[in-house]
Amino acid sequence: MAGKDYRIATIPGDGIGVDVTVEACKVLDRAAALHGFGLKWTEFDWSCERFTETGAMMPEDGVAQLSAFDGIFLGAVGFPGVADHVSLWGLLIPLRRAFAQYVNLRPVRLLPGTTSALAGRSADELEMVIVRENSEGEYSELGGRHNKGQPGEFVLQESVFTRVGVERIIRYAFELARTRVGRVCSATKSNGLIHSMPYWDEIFAEISAEYPDVHSEQCHVDALAARMVQQPERLDVVVASNLFGDILSDLAAAVTGGLGMAPSGNINPPGEYPSMFEAVHGSAPDIAGQGIANPVAQVLAGAMMLEHLGETACAQAVRDAVEQVLAEGSVATPDLGGKSTTAELGDAVAAALG
Ligand code: NAI
Ligand code: MG
Repeated sequence: MAGKDYRIATIPGDGIGVDVTVEACKVLDRAAALHGFGLKWTEFDWSCERFTETGAMMPEDGVAQLSAFDGIFLGAVGFPGVADHVSLWGLLIPLRRAFAQYVNLRPVRLLPGTTSALAGRSADELEMVIVRENSEGEYSELGGRHNKGQPGEFVLQESVFTRVGVERIIRYAFELARTRVGRVCSATKSNGLIHSMPYWDEIFAEISAEYPDVHSEQCHVDALAARMVQQPERLDVVVASNLFGDILSDLAAAVTGGLGMAPSGNINPPGEYPSMFEAVHGSAPDIAGQGIANPVAQVLAGAMMLEHLGETACAQAVRDAVEQVLAEGSVATPDLGGKSTTAELGDAVAAALG
């Protein structure tokens, strides 16, 4: 382990993506040094600003440029003036798909020092992980706008659920459950979506039969949203399609410490391509440039990246440092009820590493 250098591509992106990435890199560099390895960062300026200047979020060979890295560390992309579907489909979605990052892993944990919508709950009652399908489903380019400008105008937006895609995400969830408390809940909506969701449910039943040791159940996504708030202790691994997983994970972030605390990983389980780690939140234009964004989500995304690289002890040290600073409570950004800046919170976490 000593002396190893990991090559990491960093794309700070737009808005607070830039602010929080600076702080997270600072924490990760210090943690790595203390654990005897190095992180060699290469920064890419791919962003809405680049789109405005050149007409593209990233160069045409962007995927090829990133493919040689051990990991990708992304801030957030999206900014007023550039339509959200442009930033999403011009960078995030092509990278997730080109690198077969078909798992979007979103750990949810009630961190110390945060006031939850579920005040009174403790970390052992509220700890789950959302396994979101990240390469197909409802986020598809199939469809179109017809009879444009006429009274009969309509749009079609198709979903795509492939057997390979559904099987591998559900299997990932069951494998993950075996390393945790052994419980999987699948988000469905087979009463409303009468083709895609019954298919998803059928495959879920097939795969759950292969894992008799894991408790499995399915729940309509609307009821699951309510359960997440009312009975979070009943949930551990939640597996969901692309759209359902996206919505559930913002809800889960909101019932814990808020978006400023929620990390996420876009994972290629076989390791053929680099995986990509980012906060769940976006570029927050409402607070961008003010130096007050909470860097914790990005720092915890960095810990997920270290874990993925096999640096388990270092990843745990970063999580411990975050928890220590939050529990102590004297350094907190405005979303946590404090008055500290992004950099002050980043510095405090770096210092807590020892
Ligand atoms: P957002 O997550 O950027 O912001 C939602 C709310 O949460 C805002 O009030 C914001 O101030 C607050 N917030 C978010 N992160 C915070 C942090 N670290 N500290 C303190 N407060 C924080 O979502 P929104 O407003 O829907 O999207 C803004 C832009 O970000 C859009 O262009 C969107 O497309 C993009 N976006 C990009 C994502 C990505 O790159 N993965 C993910 C989500 C949105
Ligand atoms: Mg989202």
